[in-house]
Amino acid sequence: MKAPLTFLLAGLLAAPGVLADTLPGADKAFQCTACHGPDGMKHAPGQPAIGGRSSAELTAILQDYQHLRRINPAMQILLLPMSDQDLENVAEYFSLVGKTASAN
Ligand code: HEC
Repeated sequence: MKAPLTFLLAGLLAAPGVLADTLPGADKAFQCTACHGPDGMKHAPGQPAIGGRSSAELTAILQDYQHLRRINPAMQILLLPMSDQDLENVAEYFSLVGKTASAN
């Protein structure tokens, strides 16, 4: 059991750094991490984890905020200036880094 565990830990340590640096949504997603955590897995009262969910689902939710179908002023400030591509990149970012973190 020792070898697989070591392998798993090495993967967990290496992957977030690689993903955070190389994914196109990384720079924009950084603005979200204060509330949602670096991998989108932070829970706060009334604040569900966003990490590890499908990027299509997250994109749809972000569009709801951007088009004022859902209201959260702090997120609207960040999301309103973003392009459709930005939203997809950010959604993809949290989808992937959250999956890595949820294996932890
Ligand atoms: C100031 C804190 C804050 C920041 C910054 C913030 N969020 Fe949020 N977010 C929240 C809170 C609180 C909720 C839950 C309440 C609500 O739905 O309005 C939420 C909800 C969400 C949800 C919906 C989750 C669900 O299941 O309903 C998504 C997706 C999300 N945020 C993504 C983002 C993204 C992407 C960013 C960066 C562009 C971001 N948030 C920035 C606080 C924040």
